[in-house]
Amino acid sequence: MATTKQATASPAVGLAGFTLPLPYRVFFLLIEPIATLAGAYYAFFDQRTYLDLTHASSAPSPIPLGTSIAMSQLANLYFAFALSEALVLRATSDLRVWKAVLFCLLVADLGHLYTVSVLGPRIYWSVFEWNAIDWGNIGFSPVTMPYPEQFTGFQVNGPDTWLDFHKNEFQPKPFGDYDVDVKIEACGVCGSDVHTLNGGWGEQNFPLAVGHEIVGTAVRVGSKVTLIKEGQRVGVGAQSYSCLDCRQCKNDNETYCKKQLDTYGAVWPDTGIVSQGGYSSHVRTHEHWVFPIPEGLPSTVAAPMLCAGLTAYSPLVRNGCGPGKKVGIVGLGGIGHLGVLFAKALGAEVWAISRTHAKEDDARKLGADGFLATADKDWNAAHVMTFDLIVNTANSFDGFDLDAYLSLLDVHAKWVSVGLPEDDGIKIRNQTFLSNGCFFGSSHLGSRKETLAMLQLAADKGIRTWVEEVPISKENLANVLTRLHNNDVKYRFCLTGYQDQFGA
Ligand SMILES: NC(=O)c1ccc[n+]([C@@H]2O[C@H](COP(=O)([O-])OP(=O)(O)OC[C@H]3O[C@@H](n4cnc5c(N)ncnc54)[C@H](OP(=O)(O)O)[C@@H]3O)[C@@H](O)[C@H]2O)c1
Ligand SMILES: [Zn+2]
Ligand SMILES: [Zn+2]
Repeated sequence: MATTKQATASPAVGLAGFTLPLPYRVFFLLIEPIATLAGAYYAFFDQRTYLDLTHASSAPSPIPLGTSIAMSQLANLYFAFALSEALVLRATSDLRVWKAVLFCLLVADLGHLYTVSVLGPRIYWSVFEWNAIDWGNIGFSPVTMPYPEQFTGFQVNGPDTWLDFHKNEFQPKPFGDYDVDVKIEACGVCGSDVHTLNGGWGEQNFPLAVGHEIVGTAVRVGSKVTLIKEGQRVGVGAQSYSCLDCRQCKNDNETYCKKQLDTYGAVWPDTGIVSQGGYSSHVRTHEHWVFPIPEGLPSTVAAPMLCAGLTAYSPLVRNGCGPGKKVGIVGLGGIGHLGVLFAKALGAEVWAISRTHAKEDDARKLGADGFLATADKDWNAAHVMTFDLIVNTANSFDGFDLDAYLSLLDVHAKWVSVGLPEDDGIKIRNQTFLSNGCFFGSSHLGSRKETLAMLQLAADKGIRTWVEEVPISKENLANVLTRLHNNDVKYRFCLTGYQDQFGA
């Protein structure tokens, strides 16, 4: 009897007669496998809940949460090793326990290898910084998972209350390997911010913080980022994404990519999160749309260049602006005044074309060689068919006599409209183009290459945006947007004082 019992109770290992005590069996057969599977589930399918849980229980730490979670998994691994060595493998002959433990170790090992390959060996000696270690048994997690931190921004709830700003926290898109978090220091106020908030461009995704002429500091860079260094002063403009793989993207036309996304108001694929702009504490952007700012350019001078400057610069360089060319800039606002500055810097003869003479002195100070006011009688007569290129920045079609403007162009010369008025647009007849065979086109922002070249040109030639600096606040935002709407700005508002609103 005794012999038979002994034989059936001693499988592979042969520790006859020993059964693991109940608490250990419960732990290894029940808790450990369930926790591991639950952890794997949350890590891959419900990362938000996982991070909310881990974050809630974590002490503040200088190390990013994803790193901390990865390290907690390492701890978990060693814990499992220690236990299995000490207790299981020496103490039981129960094969089910062996299998369960080995399975858990395998899962932990894969997680370990993955996290170490991404984080590097630093995690071994950063033990003192771990802050999620108490959640070590929820399974491993990839370090690329989203971080739960919130950014803060001045948002508007809809076009009916477009001047009513609310300081809210919002969730940025998940942090990717190529992303850069920029802590904002300055942001220009673009005409597009007005069109977007007041409903002039139709439906938008609210609540929304606008602003896409951003300069700040890169405070965090993704593991695959090569173009930007942490701590660098950088800028972000109106575009934040494209596929970087299509015909347009490969030809430095990423601004025309079918998958291009705007810095604010765009819905990030996969997450449904709406991108938020520079009236905020931070912006999270793919490195391709983050630009180092040359040292010679003050932040408030550089910021407006990232949308307004580029929108003027790109059509100028793409359409032959340079020595020997007569170039017109219609509308002396944010884009227009930078258009005059850049066209001059590129060596062209530059004419500012405004509605009245109110801005004539300023245009000359900006470097314009000539000035036309469309309110004057026969304002175009003396210049018919003399211009090589005209860039139109007007943001409205009220009283806009397109024929008169186009009459200025030489044969086959180009008219490039970058302004995006709110209403339906204007009617154009083919006959309009007959007298000079001119070309009529448009232009959207510019490429990364052009942005870098523009910033360098501005630094080299000492080009200075005319900026009115305004500390960011609820009241000041309402005020500057009203003034911009009323064409009362010389020539770009730039928001400052971010530290006072959002902290150091
Ligand atoms: N294509 C792009 O990639 C792109 C990028 C950014 C912005 N935008 C668009 O470009 C436009 C201009 O932006 P912004 O920031 O420069 O605006 P802004 O500072 O308000 O300047 C617009 C200028 O247009 C002129 N203007 C306004 N109404 C006019 C009219 N009825 N006829 C003729 N001229 C008129 C005014 O100049 P005067 O007082 O001198 O007449 C005004 O200063 C906006 O529609 C904006 O959305 C386009
Ligand atoms: Zn803009
Ligand atoms: Zn593309």
